Amino acid sequence: MAPFTSSAGAFGAFSDDHAGGLVLNPHRHFDEALDPPVHGGNRVWAATIAGCPPEELVDFSASINPLGPPQSILDAIANPQDALRAYPDPTYGALRRAIADHHGIDPSWVMPGNGAAELLTWAARDLAALDAVYVPVPAFGDYGRALRAFGARVKSWLLVGGGDRDWLALPGGPKIGAIVNNPHNPTGFLWSAAVLESLLKRLALVVVDEAFMDFLPDERGWSLVDRLERYPNLVIVRSLTKFYSMPGLRLGYAIAHPDRLRRWNSWRDPWSVNSLAALAGVAALADRSFQQRTWDWLPPSRDRLALALRNLAPDTFKPFASAANFLLVRSAIPGPWLQRDLLRRDRLLVRDCLSFPELGSQYLRLAVRTDPENQRLIRALVAAYRRFVEEGASDGTMG
Ligand SMILES: Cc1ncc(COP(=O)(O)O)c(C=O)c1O
Repeated sequence: MAPFTSSAGAFGAFSDDHAGGLVLNPHRHFDEALDPPVHGGNRVWAATIAGCPPEELVDFSASINPLGPPQSILDAIANPQDALRAYPDPTYGALRRAIADHHGIDPSWVMPGNGAAELLTWAARDLAALDAVYVPVPAFGDYGRALRAFGARVKSWLLVGGGDRDWLALPGGPKIGAIVNNPHNPTGFLWSAAVLESLLKRLALVVVDEAFMDFLPDERGWSLVDRLERYPNLVIVRSLTKFYSMPGLRLGYAIAHPDRLRRWNSWRDPWSVNSLAALAGVAALADRSFQQRTWDWLPPSRDRLALALRNLAPDTFKPFASAANFLLVRSAIPGPWLQRDLLRRDRLLVRDCLSFPELGSQYLRLAVRTDPENQRLIRALVAAYRRFVEEGASDGTMG
């Protein structure tokens, strides 16, 4: 694996002609990254750089559906007095039934949580009981938080390109586990159910984080939900915060063998899902028209954004093919420079990838937003590109 280098100086144009494989820095690994996880959507920090209130930023850094939250959710929590006055149903019966119906499974296989993040914590506790846990990197930073909380023995697994070969050589064993994110944040890679099933045959526990799976217009054939009964060593974690645009309300769920979920339930706080989130979840899963609108919007808007990025300036922005609602972009302009420039000039917040230690400064992650917002981003990037070239020319680094 070649280390990342920017050998052409401040403006290191790429020699390859497609985004191709990831160019990772093997010297910075996920399990060595001791910094607290940094998420997208840090709007308060960004607003101080931009010099405006947080609401005036257009946020391309957090991968949240720009069409939401749907009216059905707002209606479901519009009169909250009753819900606020009582403790939530500790069994979350209605919510679990709604989730189970959505997937065609039995409610005993479902455990709602305070965002996918909470379920990752309990999954990490099970993973920490094993001799080693493989985490493909680059990875969502919260895996590190959850795994470190229980002293798990983490091994980074460098992804190479998004195909089956990412997994073929992963060592197996009766005391080895893995946490896999499909579709994968930050790359947008999507692996086949068949290749992930091969891991289930070789590993003691496989946690599949499908936080972005609902963005696929047809997830059958990709989600591992229909493998659950065959593999008690499979845990699926799902999020409702991204697709339904409610990260502030928090809601996710795990699907796994009922014995495992009973154990997790005995560990956690009572009522960790609040009553409004539980109401919102039932309404969200019933909202077929919002789901359809999202599936109609995403693929063409993502394609147009990727094309505009590729065409923006020769060899400057190289988006990876993505199955999710964001694009990882290899950028010849350093991500941190672009992030600050776009904040100050345009009040647009993009995600630099410094918090993914293996990626470093030559990557950006961009949420796909509405077409007018995506066009605004492209116009801002054209102007930023010109400024960057002029700055490089005036300080001699382009020479
Ligand atoms: C891959 C992945 N899994 C899980 C989460 C957490 O989702 P939630 O908001 O449901 O806790 C995120 C949030 O960014 C994520 O990117």
